[in-house]
Amino acid sequence: GGLVAGTVITLSGWTPQPKPILAPSGGVRRTPLPIPPLAEPEIAHDGTRIFSLTAQTGQSRIHPAGPTPSWGYNGAFAGPSLRAAEGDRVRIVVRNELPETTTVHWHGLKLPAQYDGGPHQPIAPGEEWIAEWEIEQPAATCWYHPHTHGTTEAQVTRGLMGLFILQDELSEWSGLPIDYGVDDVPVLVTDRSFNADGTFAARERTAFGLLGDTVIVNGALSPTFEVTRALTRLRLLNGSSARTYHFVVQGAPMTLVGTEAGLLPDPTPINSVTLTPGERAEVLVELEPGQTAMLQSVPHSLGLLQSTSRAAGAEDRFDVLELRAASSFAGPDLTIAGLGMIAQVLPPPLEAPDVTRSMVLTNNQINGATMEMSRVDQVVTVGARERWVIDNQHHLPHNLHIHNARFLVVSVDGEPPRDYERGWKDTVYAPPGRPVIIDVEFGRSADPEWPYMFHCHWLMHHDMGMMGQFVVIDDTQEPPTAISTPAVH
Ligand code: C2O
Ligand code: CU
Ligand code: CU
Repeated sequence: GGLVAGTVITLSGWTPQPKPILAPSGGVRRTPLPIPPLAEPEIAHDGTRIFSLTAQTGQSRIHPAGPTPSWGYNGAFAGPSLRAAEGDRVRIVVRNELPETTTVHWHGLKLPAQYDGGPHQPIAPGEEWIAEWEIEQPAATCWYHPHTHGTTEAQVTRGLMGLFILQDELSEWSGLPIDYGVDDVPVLVTDRSFNADGTFAARERTAFGLLGDTVIVNGALSPTFEVTRALTRLRLLNGSSARTYHFVVQGAPMTLVGTEAGLLPDPTPINSVTLTPGERAEVLVELEPGQTAMLQSVPHSLGLLQSTSRAAGAEDRFDVLELRAASSFAGPDLTIAGLGMIAQVLPPPLEAPDVTRSMVLTNNQINGATMEMSRVDQVVTVGARERWVIDNQHHLPHNLHIHNARFLVVSVDGEPPRDYERGWKDTVYAPPGRPVIIDVEFGRSADPEWPYMFHCHWLMHHDMGMMGQFVVIDDTQEPPTAISTPAVH
């Protein structure tokens, strides 16, 4: 489906339809937070959960000035939330109805490399691609997005992204909110600039990539969410190309319950959570009936020099999501104090890693090289206990994301990690000049033919080749010397 000038395809499947309302204070027009639909899988005879995603073009109602041409999965902008539990088998049928080649990568998932959805699994226009695997990891807020060689930023910033929610038994019985869209709320945060007619603009191209002057959450400007339960779980995703958010909640305490690749054994009261591109966090906010709180992003002191938020004033401080509690609550009476055990205790740092790898980040390079589709940069043995030392020797901020893995931060420049970095992660901020040490745990698949990626998740750096490839083999397999999978069309 191409774009038809003048017609508006509304955000099909999104509930509720964005409808601007007038907030009583300050006169800001607030839009009810659209909730991406929860994908309904088909269940095969053997129990496999079959999801269908169609990458398509469309037009969204985001900006009052007019319809915004955008891309989405099963709709005009972003995509449905996929949900599965540890031990489930999932099959995802992806159709490409875009005018160009795309891929779909399952960020944060451990899975066989042939289904990873990186640049080696291109889906040409009109084609279908199927990924199938068994979920072998505990509860987490993961996501999916294109991962083409060189066009990822363009595709993601048109709107291609969605959440992949993983559940497990421990967390479901713990008293954490799990009522999707009611007390378990996806919060996909991105930033854009708009032209006068409401189309996306690409004005602010910096050494970090595209920065917008306006924040949009789940495809809405200035959103508000009506809280109807005492405890609300926010699944925060930084889906921006280049902007870092330093999240705070004004008007209510915030409790961190999960980092991007898993839940925390001990929910932690926290003042702020910093997310660089690709990172996620799960936080709980407890409100009284009638109370209002504001999720904001505030200036930070971590050397993340990305302050161009003109719409929000000279300071990089802006409202992200208003939480407005109804005058009375119904439903389960969950509280932070009443939470049971939500996750397994985190293992201590490795005493004697089997392997230590060094990742030196420079100007769009990792260990002195840019991405080469046929080159094998690292060979990992399945089950090996690895330590990676990430050393950002560049003056710009970068981060490092590793596919098919989760890791724990051991230290940042010799110091223990900050509170919001103590937990399972798959992407970590690498501050200039301050080495970050992580202990990495890979998935259990081994296949010498297909590679996984590790890269900077600032999407422009990603597109410029700040990425390397690794294969995972078992001890019966020979380390490959080159990769020869289908080239990108
Ligand atoms: Cu979210 Cu390799 O990416
Ligand atoms: Cu990934
Ligand atoms: Cu980078």
